[in-house]
Amino acid sequence: MASSLFSLHFLLLLFLYQPLFSMANLHKSKNMILRSNHRSHLINTIPFNENSSTVYFEVTKPIKLPNTKPCSYHVLHHDFGFTYGRPPVVVNYTPPACYSQKFTKIVLEWKATCKGTQFDRIFGVWLSGVELLRGCTAEPTPKGIIWSVDKDITRYNSLLLKNQTQTLAVYLGNIVDQTYTGVYHVNLTFHFYPVECNVMINNDENKISLNNLASNYYSKADLILPISQDRPLNDGLWFEVRNSNETKSKQFQIPENVYRAVLEVYISFHENDEFWYGNFQNDYIAANNLSDTPGNGPFREIVIYLDGEVVGAVWPFTVIYTGGINPSFWTPITGISSFNLPSYDIEITPFLGNMLDGKPHTLGFSVTNALNVWFIDANLHLWLDTRKAKTEGGLVMFSNKAANVYEESDFKGLNGTFLTSSKRLISSTGWIKSSYGNMTTHSIQEFRYNNSLQVAKDGDFQVVDQMIHFNDRVYTKMPFHHVHVEESFKTFHLNFYADFTVQGEGSFIFFSNVTLGFNENKYKHGGLDFFISFLRNTQKAQSVIEVKNYSTTKRLRGTKQVYEYHGSDICYSRNISSSNNLIEYDEGENCVMILKSIKVNKKLKVSTQFLIVSSFDHPSNKSSLPWSLEAIEMATSQTISCISKHSGWNQQVTEKALLMMIMMVMGQGRDGVVVESNEQRRKKKKKNGGSRWCEGEEDDQQ
Ligand SMILES: *[C@@H]1O[C@H](CO)[C@@H](O)[C@H](O)[C@H]1NC(C)=O
Ligand SMILES: *[C@@H]1O[C@H](CO)[C@@H](O)[C@H](O)[C@H]1NC(C)=O
Ligand SMILES: *[C@@H]1O[C@H](CO)[C@@H](O)[C@H](O)[C@H]1NC(C)=O
Ligand SMILES: *[C@@H]1O[C@H](CO)[C@@H](O)[C@H](O)[C@H]1NC(C)=O
Ligand SMILES: *[C@@H]1O[C@H](CO)[C@@H](O)[C@H](O)[C@H]1NC(C)=O
Ligand SMILES: *[C@@H]1O[C@H](CO)[C@@H](O)[C@H](O)[C@H]1NC(C)=O
Ligand SMILES: *[C@@H]1O[C@H](CO)[C@@H](O)[C@H](O)[C@H]1NC(C)=O
Ligand SMILES: *[C@@H]1O[C@H](CO)[C@@H](O)[C@H](O)[C@H]1NC(C)=O
Ligand SMILES: *[C@@H]1O[C@H](CO)[C@@H](O)[C@H](O)[C@H]1NC(C)=O
Ligand SMILES: *[C@@H]1O[C@H](CO)[C@@H](O)[C@H](O)[C@H]1NC(C)=O
Ligand SMILES: *[C@@H]1O[C@H](CO)[C@@H](O)[C@H](O)[C@H]1NC(C)=O
Ligand SMILES: *[C@@H]1O[C@H](CO)[C@@H](O)[C@H](O)[C@H]1NC(C)=O
Repeated sequence: MASSLFSLHFLLLLFLYQPLFSMANLHKSKNMILRSNHRSHLINTIPFNENSSTVYFEVTKPIKLPNTKPCSYHVLHHDFGFTYGRPPVVVNYTPPACYSQKFTKIVLEWKATCKGTQFDRIFGVWLSGVELLRGCTAEPTPKGIIWSVDKDITRYNSLLLKNQTQTLAVYLGNIVDQTYTGVYHVNLTFHFYPVECNVMINNDENKISLNNLASNYYSKADLILPISQDRPLNDGLWFEVRNSNETKSKQFQIPENVYRAVLEVYISFHENDEFWYGNFQNDYIAANNLSDTPGNGPFREIVIYLDGEVVGAVWPFTVIYTGGINPSFWTPITGISSFNLPSYDIEITPFLGNMLDGKPHTLGFSVTNALNVWFIDANLHLWLDTRKAKTEGGLVMFSNKAANVYEESDFKGLNGTFLTSSKRLISSTGWIKSSYGNMTTHSIQEFRYNNSLQVAKDGDFQVVDQMIHFNDRVYTKMPFHHVHVEESFKTFHLNFYADFTVQGEGSFIFFSNVTLGFNENKYKHGGLDFFISFLRNTQKAQSVIEVKNYSTTKRLRGTKQVYEYHGSDICYSRNISSSNNLIEYDEGENCVMILKSIKVNKKLKVSTQFLIVSSFDHPSNKSSLPWSLEAIEMATSQTISCISKHSGWNQQVTEKALLMMIMMVMGQGRDGVVVESNEQRRKKKKKNGGSRWCEGEEDDQQ
């Protein structure tokens, strides 16, 4: 027993220096023995609750589906046994027979089961080299588990409906032996939802109007090019970036009539960089002879190059895979984004002018401070001018300063405090002349990063606290009006706490917790189309293990998650908790739309266009939008119609436009919106003949 305590203590120390590896990172087998031992120990310490839920899931909003019957296409069924280092599984893909219809929504459904003992594995799904899904498998139990992922893949519409046979590839590198017995049984299905009958589709190709253009901007790309590895290969189609000096790149060629380009980047980090946010600075590692501990400090960024020049960056969300830190945290509620990893969009339209020469160009990826290994690839989404064989463009302005990373460290032996911070701004402006006219696109990426790392008790105590702010803004305008505005304000928070205390011979207590947060405010506007959303998603997991006199006296773990999404599309709210693998509570709150009743005063009798222009001029004033809009009560249809009449806006647009105005106005700290219910207004009106604004035409005469 003593030796097992020693080994546990040793492993925990190892854990502190080099936090637990999940096997989503298992790529190179050379480290496998260490990690297998490491993990098998951990697996043994987790008892399986015979009544534990077998359905594992990620808490996320549902996809808003049209009220039509989908046409479903079972694309692939495969059992992933010993697939590590083998070629991806491929099948032919042709659009389904129902293809003659128009679809408003296309959903990918990944459904898998597994039974036995197995690590978490990373996997990818590609169609013609374009990545559709990156995910991490759930760790099975001997009794078997099931999980599924629904992903809205409507944005890949042009690829999914291409009338030709394409190759669909899935790589899931699994290893099966006598100990690790779990085979992943996977079904992949695409569901195509036809448009609702009463929805009009404006298919008038000849009508050139601003709204038409704006809607095109708003909708899906006409062509998507893969920036990934070509088959055949014995691995995923992603590129592997193994150190900070490595840039992986791919040649591509675009048609000469492109007017918009967006690069969608997929990223996952493994092995020595799986927990990059907890990596120590190299001087600390050297001073303490921790040569096997991953270093390079806790700052990472993915830099994107076009023909060798920087065009954008990604400061990634800290996804924790299902075996990460403490696998029991993630059963049955998995870590944020672990089943469906986020991809990141970078608007590269300002640089289009350089790519329209009909010649090959190169996109490349590097990772600042990288250790082995990062899996990266991208999809290039392109919008084509159907009326012109050739567009032209030019870069007007580009400003980019490499991220300056500030590091502060103060340590003595293994005890110490480390602060790392950085920020970066990448801003580009370019014009494109197409049949729509000469449009200028301004793209801004703004990043801020803070990380504090504390080690005490000679390594038995460790706290990591990290915050990333990642803002993207894109403004496309004609000389006198905006065509398209898209803004995303993201914050990624991570807090990790671990405390190990020896309480005499054969006794110790180990406490750990993790907080993970993914927040995003999104706002999109083009012509009559408008979209706004707020997401607050926070997970807190904690565990306590107490051992007294060589036997476990306490083993508790639990995960709490609060998910709130308010969007123009749907509203979804969930408050859920698990304790020792069982769901403790799961409450869907009565979700209230953000917009309730509002009264707009004279100051706000401005067009949406004006407000957008003002945000263009002062983008920095809007970077932190308020989250206190729940106070506003539900607008009645009467209010809406009043406002429509009053403002002369299209009724259909009004509700959305109002939402946007509230955001804009509050975001700029102006007091332009007065919250008042109809009831209150009626009372007031009775009392002092007050505001007649919504009640009669006479208001318009003032
Ligand atoms: C499992 O459920 C059964 C019946 O509901 C119950 O008797 C048993 O105590 C439960 N076992 C555990 C470990 O919770
Ligand atoms: C996959 O589909 C097959 C055939 O339809 C079915 O037998 C199997 O149970 C499915 N497996 C999963 C994990 O859904
Ligand atoms: C797809 O292509 C085939 C042959 O090229 C053609 O016969 C068929 O009509 C096309 N289908 C659609 C829906 O366009
Ligand atoms: C990266 O390049 C620098 C300069 O050439 C070199 O000193 C360093 O060892 C390289 N690092 C790796 C990981 O290859
Ligand atoms: C690290 O190793 C060197 C050389 O083996 C030794 O002199 C030094 O004391 C060691 N430092 C620590 C903190 O163990
Ligand atoms: C398009 O507009 C930009 C900026 O206003 C200008 O520099 C460029 O010359 C224009 N291009 C054409 C072809 O008119
Ligand atoms: C980063 O940390 C420093 C020092 O703790 C603090 O002054 C600064 O406001 C933080 N920045 C962000 C973006 O959190
Ligand atoms: C590290 O801190 C602990 C208390 O947290 C103390 O007992 C130990 O002596 C310190 N080690 C060094 C090298 O200062
Ligand atoms: C983690 O646990 C410690 C000790 O109980 C506590 O001080 C800290 O607030 C916890 N952190 C989170 C994010 O729950
Ligand atoms: C620890 O356990 C052993 C064997 O169960 C027992 O003999 C011993 O008295 C215990 N020691 C303490 C301090 O409880
Ligand atoms: C979530 O539910 C728990 C238990 O009902 C409650 O204590 C907690 O306040 C709720 N949290 C939020 C943010 O609603
Ligand atoms: C932000 O708004 C304030 C007050 O409205 C103004 O003084 C300031 O110049 C604005 N900042 C920027 C960067 O436009």
